[in-house]
Amino acid sequence: MKNIVVLVSGGGTNLQALIDAQDSGIIKDGRITCVISSKPGVYALERTKKHNIRSRVIARKEYSDVVEYSKAILNALNEEKADLVVYAGFMTILDELVVKAYPNRMMNVHPALIPSFCGKGYYGLRVHEEALKKGVKLTGATVHFVTEVCDGGPIILQKAVEVLDDDTPEILQKRVMEQAEWKILPQAVSLFCEDRLEVRDDRVYIK
Ligand code: GAR
Repeated sequence: MKNIVVLVSGGGTNLQALIDAQDSGIIKDGRITCVISSKPGVYALERTKKHNIRSRVIARKEYSDVVEYSKAILNALNEEKADLVVYAGFMTILDELVVKAYPNRMMNVHPALIPSFCGKGYYGLRVHEEALKKGVKLTGATVHFVTEVCDGGPIILQKAVEVLDDDTPEILQKRVMEQAEWKILPQAVSLFCEDRLEVRDDRVYIK
């Protein structure tokens, strides 16, 4: 049984999708053992309480720089004996010292079809605003392994979602979450826990 540690910064609907998938047996061979939030008081922490999942707050604003913050996160991951680390709406870019310690063991969900609308500055609603500005007809979500390149790691799963003419960023965000993120994130986590993901030459193969 693998230890899954989930990193959050906000509402935690992706965390909820993982909790629901765990409760309904979709995630085989893994358990969410701890949730770490970069902010106190966020709704994701309420979700952990309701489901008796242990949580820790490691507040970004209490650290002077990203390296010191990353060291604190790394210590916590080591203490938690994490087998898999999941960024579920985690809004801090960590120093590469963390990914180097957990190569191909950290995954992120991004609300677009990478390599579109990704990289530094593309997070949350901003991603959907840019997709609407560009006028794309399809967008979606991507789950990928985290590397030192922001949103640049090997892609595990993607799912496309239609963009409609009168979408607002908020409406599009909701559709992408419902139709893509909340489905592919639990699937990717389950595949990892079942040892079915193989990374070769920066590509992910599902066994
Ligand atoms: C989600 O749409 C997630 O994909 C996005 O933030 C939202 C968090 O929602 N993440 C990023 O943009 C990371 N680059 P949640 O807290 O309700 O899961």
